Amino acid sequence: MRKILITGGAGFIGSNFIHYILNKYHNYKVVNLDKLTYAASLKNLKNVENNPNYKFIKGDISDRDFIFTIFEKEKFDVVVNFAAESHVDNSISNPEIFVTTNVLGTQILLDASKKYKVERFHQISTDEVYGDLELDRKDLFFTENTPLNPSSPYSASKASADMLVKSYFRTYNLPVTISRCSNNYGPYQFIEKLIPCMIFKALNNEPLPVYGKGLNVRDWLHVYDHCMAIDLILNGGVIGEVYNIGGHNEKTNIEVVEIILKELKKPISLIQYVKDRPGHDLRYAIDAAKIETELKWKAKYKFEEGIVETIRWYVENSKLYSF
Ligand SMILES: NC(=O)c1ccc[n+]([C@@H]2O[C@H](COP(=O)([O-])OP(=O)(O)OC[C@H]3O[C@@H](n4cnc5c(N)ncnc54)[C@H](O)[C@@H]3O)[C@@H](O)[C@H]2O)c1
Repeated sequence: MRKILITGGAGFIGSNFIHYILNKYHNYKVVNLDKLTYAASLKNLKNVENNPNYKFIKGDISDRDFIFTIFEKEKFDVVVNFAAESHVDNSISNPEIFVTTNVLGTQILLDASKKYKVERFHQISTDEVYGDLELDRKDLFFTENTPLNPSSPYSASKASADMLVKSYFRTYNLPVTISRCSNNYGPYQFIEKLIPCMIFKALNNEPLPVYGKGLNVRDWLHVYDHCMAIDLILNGGVIGEVYNIGGHNEKTNIEVVEIILKELKKPISLIQYVKDRPGHDLRYAIDAAKIETELKWKAKYKFEEGIVETIRWYVENSKLYSF
C-alpha cells in the first residue's frame, strides 16, 4: 500500500482528486487533511467516507506541531498539497491569511516531508503565478520558463510557495514536483467561483455580475483532466521539475456566461456588468507541450461538451449547495 496525504481534499479540486485516486487505485490509502474553511464541504466526499482506504483529519497546514504529529503517526509516502486560500477577491480584501496558509503552510509541510522522508512532495500551483498576457497577443503562452510575475496577493502567495518548494529541492534534495494549472471547471466547485456562481444565479433568475466588459480570457480545463495530469506527474514526473497543465480552451468570461444562459434557457438580459476587479489579469494561456510530450498527457474533455455536462451536474446536485 502507498499512503498519500491530500491536503485541502474537502475543496473543489482536492475532492475530485480523492475520487479519482480511490476509483483508479486499490493500493492507495488516502488521508484527507483539511481545515474546513468556508470553501470546503465534506458533502463532496459523502460517497467515499466509508471506503476503508479513505480517512479524514480536520486540521490546519500552518499549525506546525499538529502537522508534525500527524506525519509522525501516519508515515506518508506521498504528499499532494492542494490546501490554499484560493479566491482572488478575498486576497485583495484580506491578504494575510493567504500568506499564512499558502506560504507558511506550504513551508511547514515541506519541513515535515523532509523530516519524515516522503518519497514525493507535489505542489498544486496555478498559471496565475506568471501574471497575465495581453489580449491582442494570441501568439503568446505561458511556458514553464516564463518568469513569475504575480498580480494579486493570491498569486503572489502561490508564487512564493513555488519558490520555497524549488528551494527545498535544491537545498535539501527533497523530491518535489510542481504543477501549474489553468482555470478548472467541473463538479464540486464552491459557488463563489465564476461557473457555479453564474449557474446558481441564473437558476434563481438573479442578475449575473460580470466584471468590466467581460473580455478577460481564461483557459478552461476540466477538473478530471487536471487530476489525470497530477497522477501522471506523481508516477512519471521528473523530480525537481515544473509542469504546466492547460486546456487549450481560451474563452472570455462573457462567452462562458452566455453559454450558461443558453444552456439554462435564460435571457441575456440577466447579465449585469459591474466595476472591474483591481489588478484584474487580462489573459491566461498555457503552453502544455512539456507534459503532453514527456508524460503523454492529453485532455479528455472538449470545453463545449464538458461545460454542458458540468451545468447539468449543478442542476441535478443543487441540493448539495445551500443556495
Ligand atoms: N480552482 C482553480 O481553477 C485552480 C486552478 C489552478 C490551481 N488551483 C490551485 O488548486 C488548489 C485547490 O484549489 P481549489 O479550487 O480546489 O480550492 P478550494 O478553495 O475549493 O479548496 C481549498 C481547500 O483547502 C482547505 N484549506 C484552506 N486553508 C487550509 C489550511 N490552512 N489547512 C488545511 N486546509 C486548508 C479549504 O478548507 C478547502 O477545502 C489550490 O492550491 C489552488 O491554488 C486552483
